[in-house]
Amino acid sequence: MFKAPKGVRDILPPQSKTWRSVENTIQQVLEDFGFDEIRLPVFESSELFTRSIGTETDIVAKEMYSFTDRGDRNYSLRPEGTASAVRAYLEHQLYTPSPYRKLYYSGPMFRSERPQAGRYRQFFQIGAEAFGVDSPYLDAEILVMLKLICQRLNLTEWELQLNSVGCPVCRSNYRQKLQDYLQAQVSFLCEDCQRRSQTNPMRVFDCKSAHCQERLAAAPRVADNLGDECREHFEQVKNLLAAQGIEYKLNPNLVRGLDYYTRTAFELVSTKLGAQNAFAGGGRYDGLVEEMGGPSIPAIGFAIGMDRLVSLLEERLTLPENRPLVYLILLGEQAQCEGYNLLLKLRTAGIKCEMDYQSGGMKSQMKKADKMQAEYCLILGETELKEQNIILRQMQSGQQQTLKIDDLLRVSPFGKYW
Ligand code: HAM
Repeated sequence: MFKAPKGVRDILPPQSKTWRSVENTIQQVLEDFGFDEIRLPVFESSELFTRSIGTETDIVAKEMYSFTDRGDRNYSLRPEGTASAVRAYLEHQLYTPSPYRKLYYSGPMFRSERPQAGRYRQFFQIGAEAFGVDSPYLDAEILVMLKLICQRLNLTEWELQLNSVGCPVCRSNYRQKLQDYLQAQVSFLCEDCQRRSQTNPMRVFDCKSAHCQERLAAAPRVADNLGDECREHFEQVKNLLAAQGIEYKLNPNLVRGLDYYTRTAFELVSTKLGAQNAFAGGGRYDGLVEEMGGPSIPAIGFAIGMDRLVSLLEERLTLPENRPLVYLILLGEQAQCEGYNLLLKLRTAGIKCEMDYQSGGMKSQMKKADKMQAEYCLILGETELKEQNIILRQMQSGQQQTLKIDDLLRVSPFGKYW
């Protein structure tokens, strides 16, 4: 028997219904805030990801699903959506005539991480990217929007964690400070962190080893080492959030696992999620568009991890079951033939109905109608057929009436009967 690969899963009904409803709610808010949908490819050239996310990140160094195709081209399944959104923004010159553009996307992402609760190798994101504005107003607006999404979903137990990771200028000063600190700790750090301390020191904060984290407790933090402009930007974001009544917690360790971030960085976390506690994350990436070969255009975005978000909502979301309005009880071969036509006509008219393809006796078909929780059944036997009649029965009350088959279909949209 085949099984889905490790860390990859099916979303079965009725869970799929919850997903659809959550996705619709999020997309509605995104559209209300002026974001337009972009559909992005599931695989791209590997270099797009290595260059944008950074070679020293866990995603690129350890987690990409990369392959060479028959033409010897190197591709990777997308581990996230920002790189593709930037690529599309540049490829289609979406920055003309105005650089201001807001896009959202959704779909599966792929990372070869060790599977555990809330961590999958194929997982789903809804992401949003806003290009062309460096104002802190936009940062705050994005966070207001995320709060609204949580409100619309009735999600209450979550926290916004906030940090600023500065810009390359503040970071070059900070880098030296951090490297000096790490140098003194080097013999206590894991091999990865020893390497990172030389190549990309800020990535040491991503290390999952508790031992390394202990050693980093007293390390200098980037938010304490911002230049004037980045500090001012961060102050304004915090003031705007306060003015909008958005609570947040400063987390100086929040550096996000991708290299492209500048200034504002944030995550939405919930204690109900266990170790994998972030159900959304994002931030500014003011340098990425230029780094990818485009004009100098600032941007900010985020992605919601749908698997984690849905797991938070699942217990509380009770959606109506997908039950038929009508069940057709068809007695005898001819009735089944006629009933089948009726079934298709009713469905075409938008009435949810089902029938028994095996055509058992009255009792067994009635049982099936009950099991499917149909509200009505239509009974068609040889006698009814001869007269071109059909019996409409309300399942709960047992009340029935005899109708002409033609009448049933003529009365549009059948509202007279149900
Ligand atoms: P990220 O933090 O890597 O950011 O992912 C965003 C969210 O995706 C996480 O907070 C988490 O909920 C979910 N996620 C990540 N990995 C997994 C996994 N293995 N299993 C289940 N859920 C997962 C990004 O991807 C950035 N592209 C976000 C962004 C957009 N920044 C700016 N624009």
